[in-house]
Amino acid sequence: MEISNAKQVINIDAALTARIDELLSHYPADKRKSALLPVLHEVQDAHDNWLSIELQDKVAEILGIKPIEVYEVVSFYTMYNQKPIGKYMFEFCRTSCCALRGAEDLMDYTCNKLGIKEGETTPDGQFTVVGVECLGACGYAPMLQLGDYYKEHLTKEKVDALIDDCRAGKVDLHKLTITE
Ligand code: FES
Repeated sequence: MEISNAKQVINIDAALTARIDELLSHYPADKRKSALLPVLHEVQDAHDNWLSIELQDKVAEILGIKPIEVYEVVSFYTMYNQKPIGKYMFEFCRTSCCALRGAEDLMDYTCNKLGIKEGETTPDGQFTVVGVECLGACGYAPMLQLGDYYKEHLTKEKVDALIDDCRAGKVDLHKLTITE
């Protein structure tokens, strides 16, 4: 995912600071960098699910590490977003098992249905579609991740139903759910 020049309002408020402090309490005081991944998750969750360069710099400042140490982690993992994304980000696994079971076709179908290309977000800011590497559910291919939610043995009908559920506000992105 490319880096965005979009402006982001940075708000490290008392609640977020408390969550970061709680995470840091699990690590030795001189090993604050060890908390980088969970801290990035917390900070991203609190900032519309993306991390601008300015926000990454803020995380570096909080942890007392160099900005480059944050950039290299954020740019490596697809779970961190470097540009604004839709409320619902459909992450299609397209590694071997899912690819053999039609992941590309399903991703194309979803993009066409939503009127976007891979990596794009719908104009209403609701949906983003991206292809990612193996999500560890190879035996249930093809599959996608949506927040903490896994949808497995995916079909076009299941994609249709999932989009409808998102539009109806029925999908809890932060509740780990695995459905057929
Ligand atoms: S290949 Fe798709 S989850 Fe592993």
